[in-house]
Amino acid sequence: MSTFLGVDHVGVGVGDIDAATAFYGRHVGFDQLLFDYTGDLPGLEAVTGRVPHARVAMLANSGATPIGPGRVKLVQVLDGDGPPPVPSGQAWGEVGVCEICLHVRNVTDVHRALVAAGCVSTMEPMSADVPPNGVTLDIAYVADPWGTKLEMIEWTGLWRSLPGPARAEGVNHVAFGVTDMARTRAFYQRLGFTQLLFESVDFFDPMAPWFKAPWYDPENLPAQHMTMPMPAQGAAIEPVVLDPPGHDCRGEWGHLGPMDFGIRVANIDAAAAFLRDSGVQVYGTPQSIDVGNGGEWRYCYFAEPDGNYVSLVEGRY
Ligand SMILES: [Fe+2]
Repeated sequence: MSTFLGVDHVGVGVGDIDAATAFYGRHVGFDQLLFDYTGDLPGLEAVTGRVPHARVAMLANSGATPIGPGRVKLVQVLDGDGPPPVPSGQAWGEVGVCEICLHVRNVTDVHRALVAAGCVSTMEPMSADVPPNGVTLDIAYVADPWGTKLEMIEWTGLWRSLPGPARAEGVNHVAFGVTDMARTRAFYQRLGFTQLLFESVDFFDPMAPWFKAPWYDPENLPAQHMTMPMPAQGAAIEPVVLDPPGHDCRGEWGHLGPMDFGIRVANIDAAAAFLRDSGVQVYGTPQSIDVGNGGEWRYCYFAEPDGNYVSLVEGRY
């Protein structure tokens, strides 16, 4: 299905969209505000039990390259009690969205700049290569001021970067926990995530400090099975299985921190019909939101195997 074009964006719940937009624009490279919408979000009834009222800002990175093309969607839930809290006890890899990975030029310098801007280093810069193809990368992590895990990767074995100064580019992939890797791989293969960049089954030791008591026994950490299925175009996914599994960290839709992601499609009506014909439960018909200046944001949520919050997105903005 050529209509699927990879991960379009990662959705992040925030408590103050103005502060988050300023921070992501100034320090994380997401300097383009594609739209800033406040209103109802129909089509989420099956996910949230209501039509949320929220402010949504879609941010793009003007330095985004083909290997970091994804965007960030900031969501501030305005109704009810406001944004639901961060799921408690999330380390990394439990069911739920758990990180945003940015492709960057010069991991060490971007990591240093983000720490200077107020992020907390959660993994110092290092180099690694990933099985089974020995693809090399530079990697580091920070937590943004609100706790979202921002991974930085330069895929030196795939794509170095365009020339120029150190900078964060757009989203390279989104990581999320699942419970059955074979089932997840088969599901997302049909959505265009067909090229396996890496697969590993060893615990990634630099993440050990994230797995804290009482949720985990630091002496007896779960096995981690990670894969990265890439689409031919667009950002990738990184499904993870913990064994034994952690508790469910999906949280309520719109919760603070990374919480959903969208898959870009060329034609959302055709893509939704394809999913339905494939036996996937699609929640209603594609919604159309007028985001001003003639812009239109179309989306449609659907059921993925573990109930992670995922939508199709067709944007004209
Ligand atoms: Fe990752």
